[in-house]
Amino acid sequence: MSRLMIDSTVHLPRSGIELPLLGLGVFRNEDPQTACLAALKRGYRHIDSARMYYNEAQVGEAVRNSGLPREEVFITSKIGNSEHGYERTKAAVVSSLGNFKFAYIDLMLMHSAMSDKERRLGSWRALVEAKAAGQLRSIGVSNYNVKHMEEIRIAGYEMPDVNQIELHPLCQQKEIVDYCNQHGIVIEAYTPLIRARWDYPVILETAAKLNKGPAEVLVRWSLQRGFVPLPKSSNPDRVVSNADVYDFELSDEDMKRLDALDRGQAGAVTWNPINVD
Ligand SMILES: NC(=O)c1ccc[n+]([C@@H]2O[C@H](COP(=O)([O-])OP(=O)(O)OC[C@H]3O[C@@H](n4cnc5c(N)ncnc54)[C@H](OP(=O)(O)O)[C@@H]3O)[C@@H](O)[C@H]2O)c1
Repeated sequence: MSRLMIDSTVHLPRSGIELPLLGLGVFRNEDPQTACLAALKRGYRHIDSARMYYNEAQVGEAVRNSGLPREEVFITSKIGNSEHGYERTKAAVVSSLGNFKFAYIDLMLMHSAMSDKERRLGSWRALVEAKAAGQLRSIGVSNYNVKHMEEIRIAGYEMPDVNQIELHPLCQQKEIVDYCNQHGIVIEAYTPLIRARWDYPVILETAAKLNKGPAEVLVRWSLQRGFVPLPKSSNPDRVVSNADVYDFELSDEDMKRLDALDRGQAGAVTWNPINVD
């Protein structure tokens, strides 16, 4: 494993850009200024928002208030479930650019596959065009199962740069992960902290042994598995401590014990809508 640092990135070959490995999640954070500023000060360079979070404007404001050049921060948003279809998705991209007050968005995802094949592919065509037009630097999907990614491949479109799925030791989504690895799709891990439901001896014992918090162990697990974890906290101290993951390593044995927590789909703690038609 190469040495991980807070500014480590993964290359997105289809778009020719770098995605910072650690991202701050801002779901259920209506005023993400404090968390975003704490994160950017700590060295995070990646914020994961969505149209359905209704906080794109505040995220844009936080980036401007951070004093960092726009191009140093990687910003993700997601097309809402009711915005599937070519025309609606085109309009959603324009709306997001206006909310953020940015000239471009680094990564736009389909938030889920929750419509039908025709509308999903219409949205995807709109995202491919928005990328070609420079409005988006990269494009991807979220909560897409193998079947939904296959739709894109079979239709002959450019494949997603990223698939963002619920992913942590309890819910390891192996089939989706294998497919993404085979097709060069980077995997982002949402809910990497299991929403702080840590009542598992393996997690608590590993944290105690390493003199770390459970959150740090889980972020580290995700990074060592090659995922891009998106821990969320609204609390600036926790935003900082959740990134204290670069001065220790989980051993092969630690990783194996955490891996053994996998409960398949029963381990999911969010909506995890991967089984939609
Ligand atoms: N694409 C999708 O469908 C989807 C779905 C869910 C999530 N996501 C993305 O993934 C991000 C993270 O997922 P998530 O928000 O569901 O869950 P998460 O990151 O696993 O957990 C967040 C919860 O853990 C708490 N927490 C964070 N750090 C902590 C610490 N060090 N000690 C104790 N508690 C801590 C937070 O509370 P405080 O805020 O009070 O610290 C919050 O309640 C989201 O914000 C979003 O960007 C995407």
